[in-house]
Parts: sequence; C-alpha cells; structure tokens
Amino acid sequence: MLVVDNIHTYYEESHVLQGISLQVESGETVAILGRNGAGKSTVVKSIIGFQQPRIGRVLFSNVNITHLPSYRIARLGAGLVPQGQSIFPTLTVRENIMLASRGIQKGIWNLDRVLATFPNLGERLTHRGCDLSGGEQKLIAIVRALMTNPRMLMLDEPSEGLAPLIIEEIGLIIRSLRDQGVSVLLVEQNLNFAFEVADRIYVMSKGRIVFHGNPEELRRDETFLQFHLGL
Ligand SMILES: Nc1ncnc2c1ncn2[C@@H]1O[C@H](COP(=O)(O)OP(=O)(O)OP(=O)(O)O)[C@@H](O)[C@H]1O
Ligand SMILES: [Mg+2]
Repeated sequence: MLVVDNIHTYYEESHVLQGISLQVESGETVAILGRNGAGKSTVVKSIIGFQQPRIGRVLFSNVNITHLPSYRIARLGAGLVPQGQSIFPTLTVRENIMLASRGIQKGIWNLDRVLATFPNLGERLTHRGCDLSGGEQKLIAIVRALMTNPRMLMLDEPSEGLAPLIIEEIGLIIRSLRDQGVSVLLVEQNLNFAFEVADRIYVMSKGRIVFHGNPEELRRDETFLQFHLGL
C-alpha cells in the first residue's frame, strides 16, 4: 500500500529526515514511535505532500506520489488526522463532518454510521467546532478523515491529551479499519496504545529509523526503550 524509499526531507537548510525507508501493507497497522523532535510528523508530512522530500521516493498503491500535490494524494485514498486540533472552529459539527466527504469516494462511512459509532456526537451536531472540548475536537478530526473512506489512514498522535476511554474507542476504530482492509500509519508517544494496536513498529531517533520489528520484540528490550523512548 505504502512504500517510503530512502527519503531525505529538509526545512530549508535543516536536514531533518536522513534516509527513512518504511512500508505499510494493505490492512496493516504500523506505528512510528520516537521522542519529541525525532521527525515523526515530518515523515507524515513527506508522505502527504506538505513537505516534499528532496531525495527518495514515496509510492502509494504503486503510484509515485513523491511530487504530487496533497489534494491529489488525498484523492488516491490517503487520509490524514494531523497532530493537534484541526477542525473548522466556526462551522458546526455537522458541517465539519459533511464538508469532509464532499467530492470523495463513497464507501461505508457516512453520517449514519458515524452517529451509530459515536452516539454522543448526535446531540452535538449543531454545536460549533470551537465550543467542543479538546477531546471532542480530536474525535471530529478522526471522523472527518473516516468520511473520506481512505484506503490508508495516517493518524499523528491521535491519543494526545485524550481520556483513556476515548483512546480505547480510537483503538476499536483502528481494529475495525484493519478488518476492512484499510491500512493505518499511526504516529504515537503512547507506547502502550501503540503496542496494543500495531502489527509492526518503527522507532525513530534524530531523523533515522533505529528499530523495526514487532511490538513484542520492542517491549522486551528495556535498555533500548529507555535509550530511545525515555521510559
Ligand atoms: N516547519 C518547520 N520548520 C523548521 N523546522 C521544523 C519544522 N517542523 C519541524 N521542524 C523540526 O524538525 C524536527 C522534527 O520535527 P517533527 O515535527 O517531525 O518531530 P516529531 O517527531 O513529530 O515531534 P513531536 O513528537 O514533538 O510531535 C524538529 O527538530 C523540528 O524542530
Ligand atoms: Mg509530531
């Protein structure tokens, strides 16, 4: 589904990604872990076209998307829930949700299914984005990405600042996406959450990948966890 092949990404002269390669198969959930500033969000930005790599390639279902504009990458079926809050503050919840699905491929996610999955949203449909709590805004951002019916969903620290129950809810969504064959690329600092949902894990440090394997292998290596993830 996704092949990232030796990408080098810069912010002007700052050489942040120093040769990142990773892969995500169809229906696979892959997590990227790493400390603050390791370059995790930059990987996501490089894939979705917000910060194009100077060297290397990104293939999405065998299409070379390295230099495509973001809207075309999204149209190919890549969805993103960016880090932090990312909904329209002055629009209502219903408008935020419906706007996301305009002009995008039809699929199993529509407003009825969203309301069946998150019953509490029903009573908030007419509230403005800015009147929601941080956790509710995060949930709407995830719903907005689901409404595009992506073939691959990238989530940049979805659990940040959320209560355990909502994190569990997000875990269930990720599992159901896997069952539908949707690939998930998850950036996380919440290790337990990543260990629970990921099939494979990459650990980043200073713009490079320093570990690649399954959650059990990583969990066993306490010295490594301490060194690269500060646990
Ligand atoms: N727009 C930008 N301009 C210049 N430097 C940037 C920019 N965005 C990020 N950086 C730098 O690139 C490096 C990697 O940042 P990135 O946001 O990818 O880290 P991260 O792993 O996502 O961190 P966090 O866990 O804190 O979100 C950091 O040193 C950061 O300061
Ligand atoms: Mg980040």
